[in-house]
Amino acid sequence: MRILAVNASHRGDKGHTRAFIDRLFAGATAAGADCQVVTLARLKINRCLACAKCQTTHPGRCVWDDKDDVRAVFDQMAQADILVYGTPVYIFAMSGLLKTFLDRLYARGVNTDMRLSNSGLVFHGIDRAVCSKPFVSLVVCANVENETPRNAIAYFRTYARFMDAPHVGELLRNATTMLGSDDAEHQFPRLVQVYAAYAQAGRELATEGRIRRATQRQANQEIAPVPFFGLLKRFRPVKQRIIAYTRQMGETDVANE
Ligand SMILES: Cc1cc2nc3c(=O)[nH]c(=O)nc-3n(C[C@H](O)[C@H](O)[C@H](O)COP(=O)(O)O)c2cc1C
Repeated sequence: MRILAVNASHRGDKGHTRAFIDRLFAGATAAGADCQVVTLARLKINRCLACAKCQTTHPGRCVWDDKDDVRAVFDQMAQADILVYGTPVYIFAMSGLLKTFLDRLYARGVNTDMRLSNSGLVFHGIDRAVCSKPFVSLVVCANVENETPRNAIAYFRTYARFMDAPHVGELLRNATTMLGSDDAEHQFPRLVQVYAAYAQAGRELATEGRIRRATQRQANQEIAPVPFFGLLKRFRPVKQRIIAYTRQMGETDVANE
């Protein structure tokens, strides 16, 4: 099983996104998968010019082919069995790097070649070798509000339906501001379960080609050491406590500098 992760954090290999990809891949590698990470922040990725040459004068080819790194990554994606799209939330959406990268898929299909997707949606031709790969979405954000990652998650669900790409795992890690300290696992004991679930998710990808729902639930659980935090965080007094705690964490960080 070949698994390729596309890490779209602008912090590249130093970010939380990469750290969670590594935890996933530790399990997948132990179960025999061949895992690789592409770090978009290290690559040259030109934005789509919407020049439409890929649709008219040279169908299926982009004016940037051989002038930047995107085509080589698409080729790598075509060789993989499963993709992992890892992105932080930036202002309520996927990272700009990932969107710029994915926009380049436009050149991989002819937009007059209309068809129905497996979900019954009208769409144009696509390069199935790249666009229809089974994939895992891994969305990472600082906030604990469910509203924060909603757009990024919705994007991947829509992508799956238009591109005929099986969405074989939906990972979400919120509250990343809580993960910075050395004793994070002591402060947030549920992190131990979260990390174990990532390794388990990797094993399941390697052996079953998908992440089981129970594993996903474990991986995506709230880490605040408060019973029913997922429900309680909707209430204003709890939100005020979260704000106070986060401010206090910020002050502690400054005091430690
Ligand atoms: C430009 C920018 C915008 C951000 N916007 C949000 C946001 O809307 N909501 C949120 O929860 N976190 C936001 N964050 C925080 C990141 O999502 C969070 O720190 C994440 O863990 C970063 O992942 P990384 O360490 O892999 O880069 C933003 C960070 C940056 C740099």
